[in-house]
Amino acid sequence: MRRSFLVLGGTGDLTGRLLLPGLAELVDAGVLEQPLDVLAISQEDWSDDEYRDWARQRLAEHAGHVPEESRERLVDRLGYRHGDVTLAADLRAGLERAGGVPVVYLALPNTVFLPTLEALAEVGLPEGAVVAVEKPFGRNLADARALNAVLHRLVPEEAVFRTDHFLALQTVLNILGLRFANRMFEPLWNAQHVERVDIVFDETLGLEGRAGYYDTAGALRDMLQNHLLQMLAVVAMEPPTAMDARSLAARKSDVLRAVRSPQDMRRDTVRARYTAGTVGDRALPDYTAEAGVQADRGTETYAEYTVGIDNWRWAGVPFRLRSGKALGADRHEIVLRFKPVPHLAFGRDDGEGRPEPDVLRLRLDPDGISLELNLNGAGNPFDLERRALEVDLPPARLSAYGLLLQELLAGEAALSISDVEAEESWRIVEPILAAWAADEVPLLEYPAGSDGPVR
Ligand code: BG6
Repeated sequence: MRRSFLVLGGTGDLTGRLLLPGLAELVDAGVLEQPLDVLAISQEDWSDDEYRDWARQRLAEHAGHVPEESRERLVDRLGYRHGDVTLAADLRAGLERAGGVPVVYLALPNTVFLPTLEALAEVGLPEGAVVAVEKPFGRNLADARALNAVLHRLVPEEAVFRTDHFLALQTVLNILGLRFANRMFEPLWNAQHVERVDIVFDETLGLEGRAGYYDTAGALRDMLQNHLLQMLAVVAMEPPTAMDARSLAARKSDVLRAVRSPQDMRRDTVRARYTAGTVGDRALPDYTAEAGVQADRGTETYAEYTVGIDNWRWAGVPFRLRSGKALGADRHEIVLRFKPVPHLAFGRDDGEGRPEPDVLRLRLDPDGISLELNLNGAGNPFDLERRALEVDLPPARLSAYGLLLQELLAGEAALSISDVEAEESWRIVEPILAAWAADEVPLLEYPAGSDGPVR
């Protein structure tokens, strides 16, 4: 079977910044079974050569870690077709030129997912075709349902790849290894022993010229509806029977179904946006003064919510998810805080000298794991000291997009979001979106470079 790769939105930022570099990594690693023909379709009226020049520049900018010779091997196999991806005739012509059994990648703004998929359904795809859709998967539950319905007309669910590159991050994959390839954590991985779980993705990055997308999305839709809920699903799921798409999707879906949306929006959710400030040595303007931002949209650059999981394993344990832009430090981690021991024979009765309970931190980028424990001190043998067992993980061989593309081209959807998960994730955040849109929760402010909003 000859695979071809059809990129819809082939001149966009995502293609240049992530897809082409990911493909170049695969060429370089020699993991593709056969040379891959890539056909990009987009609105620019370019020739193949003009497209290759554009791709060469993007690769030089974003795939400097891949040797030039490998980048050139990819560039040699790139083709380009000018067209409107929402028109069946243009898609038909693209599919004919690409030939083979296509992987069709929608690297498009999510506002055009539906018309594009409808046009694709009109043309039809050959047996074995795979369709990949970027995030956010619609803007709400109704959109996700409509997208799923047309996808299911097009290809079987196993051939749909709803992209979430966090699933391909080493630390997220390592949660599976840590939990299910070792005996020691799983017995403690429940409400009896875990007090709370924090899933944090604080970024120092600001808008990065992405106002066109970000100002209509906001932190909740950009990060907490997808990436952070996927991390929650992997942290909280029951053991899968196999590491394949079917088992993982079933176990993640179970967890997401059990997540209860916040009940008290003012208590359990926070929204905020940054004002002018300095991040490291970069001065950032007020979010509302960034080019392309419309202040009256009230878009949040910081979102936080706390949910519970209504099942036997997790009942009563708060899971707090938070992510924001232009914060003082990059903090990307999942933190499990354990309950105190039932009786502590150390320290004084008044609580003085009592240590913090154990904490397990799973760090992303740079990847690592740390387990904070209380041990006997070096001085008085009955004084406790806090020590951490630390593991720094070497950088992954492939970037997250490289790994995702490898799986996608192999037709294996284990690192994808399933139809049920996509819909459940919207079901969880929709009440938050509604409460925020109705101003039930105030839009707070935080200076760029700070630790975030203070409530
Ligand atoms: C993307 C979001 O999906 O993930 C960005 O749209 C965010 O806003 C990014 O910055 C974070 O992921 P990474 O892998 O770039 O750190």
